[in-house]
Amino acid sequence: MSDSRECRVAVFSTQKYDRIFLTQAATDSNVQFHFLEPRLEPDTVILAQGATAICAFVNDRLDADVLKALKDSGIDLVALRCAGFNNVDLKAAEDLGVRVARVQAYSPQAVAEHAVALLMTLNRKTHRAFNRVREGNFLLDGLMGFDVHGRTVGIVGTGRIGRAFGRIMQGFGCRVVAFDPYPDPEVEEMGIEYLPWEAFLSQSDIISLHCPLTPETHAMIDATAVGLMKPGTMLINTSRGAIIDTHAVIDGLKSGRIGSLGLDVYEQEENLFFKDLSEEVIQDEVFQRLLTFPNVLITGHQGFLTRQAMEEIARTTVDNLRCLSNDERCLNRLV
Ligand code: NAI
Repeated sequence: MSDSRECRVAVFSTQKYDRIFLTQAATDSNVQFHFLEPRLEPDTVILAQGATAICAFVNDRLDADVLKALKDSGIDLVALRCAGFNNVDLKAAEDLGVRVARVQAYSPQAVAEHAVALLMTLNRKTHRAFNRVREGNFLLDGLMGFDVHGRTVGIVGTGRIGRAFGRIMQGFGCRVVAFDPYPDPEVEEMGIEYLPWEAFLSQSDIISLHCPLTPETHAMIDATAVGLMKPGTMLINTSRGAIIDTHAVIDGLKSGRIGSLGLDVYEQEENLFFKDLSEEVIQDEVFQRLLTFPNVLITGHQGFLTRQAMEEIARTTVDNLRCLSNDERCLNRLV
């Protein structure tokens, strides 16, 4: 790897696995990581002092104030170690002259396969069976699922992850339909049919969300959308929490319109996920309500967490930092 200028990087929201994979990827490079556990927010920006760049993750807050504080301390380079960038005020970054890069694609399969894991667990209730068998309870009452084969699976957003998910579901023998304002002929060639929103909602037995969080997709799954779904629809969200209106979905679960719900993301997840809160009283009542449903399964934003994805995220992040700090062209640059 050709190098030059030293790039000192403050890594926010560090977990053990970030440290391992990023350190390995930075061997023989001009990138030096300084690992920090806190999440990036106005109160923690100060921890980045002395660095020339920062590395941030999904729940780090990169709003105009934080970006300005970074710039004031001489930091004009942000490397996101994730694909989504809804937590970054790109306009403010551009105005301030802060360069931002992300990891555009690492392992779409990692997230798609996690969505399938949620789907299959909810359907065949292996999480409940696991506990029963360990307690010596071999009754099957309450464990009935349905054949996934032959069901209609609806994908919202046929990008890299949505497409990978669609391919897997075609392998199960499902009819796969999609909603995306930007239909892709390659997806149609795969045998996936685009439908208008209302038809999409009313025909799908299982709906999986794979679009980015934008002003258009914010609360896209609201009370109206839930009302158009088939009774008993399974809803899976591995994309971003705010794409669903959680209150509307809770009402849908109560009425049975939503038959089961699998979440890897949650709108207020920054207060919960990636932390051990097992000794604390969780104050988020909406989240607590979700946990009371037997047909809701929540994981804490782990869709990306495979060895292959982590290697690719770390490699691309180091490469982005190297290119940007050397003023080279960077394909993953957002601003
Ligand atoms: P992508 O950019 O390849 O695809 C996004 C698709 O959504 C595109 O086809 C786009 O046309 C479509 N889209 C845009 N606006 C839409 C709308 N209003 N309605 C329906 N579709 C719309 O993105 P990729 O790589 O497939 O990732 C999708 C999302 O998955 C990311 O934005 C991120 O939020 C989430 N993600 C979650 C992870 C996890 O660990 N749970 C990890 C990585 C990504």
